[in-house]
Amino acid sequence: MRVAIFGTGYVGLVTGTCLAEVGHEVVCVDIDQAKVDGLGKGVIPIYEPGLEPMVKANHAAGRLRFTTDAAQAVAHGEVIFIAVGTPPDEDGSADLQYVLAVARTIGTHLQKPAVVVDKSTVPVGTADRVRETIARTLAGRGAQVKFDVVSNPEFLKEGAAVEDCMRPDRIVIGADNPEAVETLRRLYAPFNRNHERVVSMDVRSAELTKYAANAMLATKISFMNEIANIAEKVGADVEMVRKGIGSDPRIGWHFIYPGAGYGGSCFPKDVQALARTSQQHGHAPTLLDAVEAVNERQKGHLFELMLRHYGDVSALRGRTVALWGLAFKPNTDDMREASSRRLLQQLWEAGAKVRAFDPEAMEETRRIFGERTDLVLCDSAEEALQGADALVVITEWKQFRSPDFDELGRRLADAVIFDGRNLYEPDDVEAAGLAYYGIGRGR
Ligand code: UGA
Repeated sequence: MRVAIFGTGYVGLVTGTCLAEVGHEVVCVDIDQAKVDGLGKGVIPIYEPGLEPMVKANHAAGRLRFTTDAAQAVAHGEVIFIAVGTPPDEDGSADLQYVLAVARTIGTHLQKPAVVVDKSTVPVGTADRVRETIARTLAGRGAQVKFDVVSNPEFLKEGAAVEDCMRPDRIVIGADNPEAVETLRRLYAPFNRNHERVVSMDVRSAELTKYAANAMLATKISFMNEIANIAEKVGADVEMVRKGIGSDPRIGWHFIYPGAGYGGSCFPKDVQALARTSQQHGHAPTLLDAVEAVNERQKGHLFELMLRHYGDVSALRGRTVALWGLAFKPNTDDMREASSRRLLQQLWEAGAKVRAFDPEAMEETRRIFGERTDLVLCDSAEEALQGADALVVITEWKQFRSPDFDELGRRLADAVIFDGRNLYEPDDVEAAGLAYYGIGRGR
């Protein structure tokens, strides 16, 4: 089928590439000429495992094209995706200006029937606004073209986006017209072979499904962080508690890992946006507010553990802290809402110096913070330890999982590790003569 995709961020680029991979003819549109030129030459602006070879192969095969020419893309697409960003507004609600700008562009250029698909995470009711915007723009130019607006939220995880897209666990299609559902079923048929993955529903339910999924996952994390904090107070080990509850299939093993708080471009933004939607409709989002508040507090927890160890904030002045991990999670270079950002600010305010290493996010860190005398960007985890007093681990990259604790004991002047993702066994660390602080581990 012929597909146009507006927006070449995570969602648009991955979706477009995977649709091309199964044989569709995809045109990706972006307003950023440099990005489009780069993509045409195989330069991928994000780090996502498996994406680069797939983009190159499909581009070379002519199934995946990149352009800034919106008119050409609209003319091409029987299915037109809107996959542009929805950054948070000042009040936390989703800013729809980019989505609606694309709707106007579609209305300006549409000549033949098409199914317009909202792929971006957008508040309930957005499909109606997109429909109205396209209809108004068409009317403005005196055109009459049949079109549908469908909600088809994505559930990709950064770092596993290609895999998630190629093997989706569900394909949610929210449409009010059965013909539009049929069109999307045909589009997704290659991903829907062995058992039925399509869940079709009305538009508003599909829009809410996306927020409900992310808010539920964020709730699980905040819940476990709350339990971790209680565990610390009562002298229990949250890792034991996690193992003790995860085997109950009603609870499950996923997303019950306590840590330094959730980050990324989705959970923080989506929990807030759903809370705003709820308020706007006269419902007080008590639980969602608590999920966010717990997460905000949790992002400061590693620093609190440091204060507990060092006694007070003045003791951090002049110290050098090795920081392993900067990205909001492993297998990505994304630093949006990353817990490391909060910790860096806190350490700098306390007068400490940081030697940081992340396998992918070094460039992004340099872009965000620029040159600073209190931040040394290191080429390896090893190098970050040079002259360091303490080690903090904040992202659970595989390569940080089994360090030589004896070596760390020799290298770290204050002989202390703060483990923000509970990667290590406290006994192993302490056996090497180091002090250990984890999340909710009673020490
Ligand atoms: C999330 C969802 O998992 C995807 O299903 C969704 O499609 C995506 O948002 C989106 O809306 O686009 P993502 O933000 O890439 O995906 O990352 P996750 O793997 O969900 O992790 C989010 C944060 O939660 C990370 O900071 C991670 O460290 C933290 N986390 C995760 C925990 O602290 N504990 C856990 O048990 C799991």
